[in-house]
Amino acid sequence: MLIKSTHNHASLKYLFNDDNKFQFQKNKLHEICPYVAMYPPKLVNKLIKTFTKEGDLIYDPFSGRGTTLLEARIAKRQAYASDLNPLSFVITKAKSRNLDKSKILARIEQLENKYSHYKFQLNRKDYDYMKTYFSKNVYHQLCFIKNELGRKWKKLNDIDTFILSCFLGILHGPTRKDGTSLFLSISMSNTNAMSKNYVDNYVKKHHLHFPINENIFEKLKEKIEKVFCEKKLPIGNVKMKDAKKCHQIFNKKFDCIMTSPPYLNIFNYTRENWIRLWLLDYKKDNLNKAIKLDDNHKYKEYKSFLVEFLNSAYKALKINGKLIMIIGDVENKYKFLNLWQEIKNDVKFKLKEHYIDPRANNKSTRKNGSKAGRATKVDNICVFVK
Ligand SMILES: C[S@@+](CC[C@H](N)C(=O)[O-])C[C@H]1O[C@@H](n2cnc3c(N)ncnc32)[C@H](O)[C@@H]1O
Repeated sequence: MLIKSTHNHASLKYLFNDDNKFQFQKNKLHEICPYVAMYPPKLVNKLIKTFTKEGDLIYDPFSGRGTTLLEARIAKRQAYASDLNPLSFVITKAKSRNLDKSKILARIEQLENKYSHYKFQLNRKDYDYMKTYFSKNVYHQLCFIKNELGRKWKKLNDIDTFILSCFLGILHGPTRKDGTSLFLSISMSNTNAMSKNYVDNYVKKHHLHFPINENIFEKLKEKIEKVFCEKKLPIGNVKMKDAKKCHQIFNKKFDCIMTSPPYLNIFNYTRENWIRLWLLDYKKDNLNKAIKLDDNHKYKEYKSFLVEFLNSAYKALKINGKLIMIIGDVENKYKFLNLWQEIKNDVKFKLKEHYIDPRANNKSTRKNGSKAGRATKVDNICVFVK
């Protein structure tokens, strides 16, 4: 249940108190690939249904794993999304189209055939690093996928984007007790990419082995069985762009921007995903330079970042459009409402309604990295109007 913290608004009175009555069916596509985020589809679905109507244009400029885009499509809204992280771009794009499963399977067969004739040249340095995570056989297959799809992520067609996204989803994760796995790596987290040292020590201590089935195409097909959605939904639009200029990205005015910007220096969206970004041909040591996100600011720069984003979002909205922003508090010192007091004179929006979601301090917050202790105890749901 969400708690309304300011203003009384009749139409919303009962909205967040009906958790038991609320029917929500999670779409299989949500499961393509995990991503560090606290933005539950059920909440997004509720917000979309409360604040928008069928056919409305909804935009998420920090799309992450594409939750808003997919929920907007399901609710028959026109969905738009962007993010500056290539990983997010690929995952969100994979959720934006209606695809034909037989064509996906035919393409996998084609890739598998090509792999059987593939002349592999080992990059010794890369392999020495990656051999902590993948067996040699899996590493070879992944290098093939990296070559065929990963490094071409910007220009792939919809089917290849979907296949790549499913590979990103099975790249690393836990092994079952019987030694089989849905994932390609040594047993590890399927959200965060752990450091080599940590994994090496863990493997030694627990005598871990690589998963039994080493055919990555078979595991890919298993994944596709799990996530493929037959239902035809309105098509979504996805770009890789900076949210600070979100009014210039789609050349449209939106009814609603629904989004969750990075919280103050809590997650490093590239470092936490370095193995997945490796498959997209990014180098671990160069991530911060190659992909410049707004996820690593000090308080003062963070405020400027939010002001810049909010002013751009203002321009991207129709005259009666709304911005719905989910944003967490970071320690007691950095409560969003306090921050808002400091920046509100630099922003044209009015904060019309504010809710808090005390469930935000959930498991995923705690397990996500060393800064978890500073992470949000509550999420703020803010409704801004012009
Ligand atoms: C809190 S996450 C969004 C999570 C998303 N709501 C979901 O369900 O997965 C914040 C996102 O902002 C992105 N990001 C950071 N700086 C950005 C910028 N300047 N422009 C666009 N996206 C940015 C990160 O890549 C990350 O995906």
